[in-house]
Amino acid sequence: MILDGKKVSQEIRKEIKEEIEKISRQRKPGLAVVLVGENPASKIYVGSKIRACKEAGIESKEICLSESIEESELLNVIEQLNRDENIDGILVQLPLPRHIDEQKVIDKISLSKDVDGFKPENLGSLFLGDEKGLKPCTPYGIIELLKRYQIQFEGKDTVIIGRSNIVGKPLIGLFLNEGSTVTVCHSKTKNLKEKTKNADILVVAIGNPKFVTEDMIKEGAVVVDVGINRCETGICGDVDFNAAESKCSYITPVPGGVGPMTIAMLLKNTLTAYRRRF
Ligand code: GUN
Repeated sequence: MILDGKKVSQEIRKEIKEEIEKISRQRKPGLAVVLVGENPASKIYVGSKIRACKEAGIESKEICLSESIEESELLNVIEQLNRDENIDGILVQLPLPRHIDEQKVIDKISLSKDVDGFKPENLGSLFLGDEKGLKPCTPYGIIELLKRYQIQFEGKDTVIIGRSNIVGKPLIGLFLNEGSTVTVCHSKTKNLKEKTKNADILVVAIGNPKFVTEDMIKEGAVVVDVGINRCETGICGDVDFNAAESKCSYITPVPGGVGPMTIAMLLKNTLTAYRRRF
């Protein structure tokens, strides 16, 4: 069965839109999206985020900066957005050019405006299971998608491939808090197949096209594919979808799985940040 992220994200976006119509009076929620440089994938993602904001009734402010911008100048831009009363959320699209320290930029964003949930304090809240933090959009979207399909986490063996700060690491905390037994695998992991074969829930976030093959999947597993890769047939995920489909009980397609959920959760976090500032 397909985990239809496109459909579920549309439902969530509709809920958010209705909520915003109900509660916003003097001003709408505001999101600043900062794009540095010309990374083609980043440009596409930012475009989708801006469009989604518009549709939901969120005022977005797109700030495009040169690839060669100095770190100090970018930090000044963030500082101005921190002070801007009409901005509830600040998102700096990653990756940033190599001469800029990403963590320094994330650290500069006000905690209350960190709608990406990337700040150490927000990741700390996530691990503590404390709902006062904002959760990173992709991991949050994955959990939300599985919940809407009534997939159970408790006592399940969940295997995550990938240990990025954006996806793999936050997922450890989220699945653990839901009662899963969590294993994290990555490029240095020995006997990978042995581990993935044991997964009731398998999440793949490594950015390697069709890396997960049928023989790595347990019969009846739930497979979540976070990859967005360019391949000969267009866009493909980290899982060999056609081979995996018959083996698992549920699977996310690429595109139309995790990607749209990330955007929906960004809107949700922006709405949460707006509510808290009022
Ligand atoms: N780059 C890839 N995913 C993300 C994300 O969720 N947020 C930001 N800011 N950059 C990203």
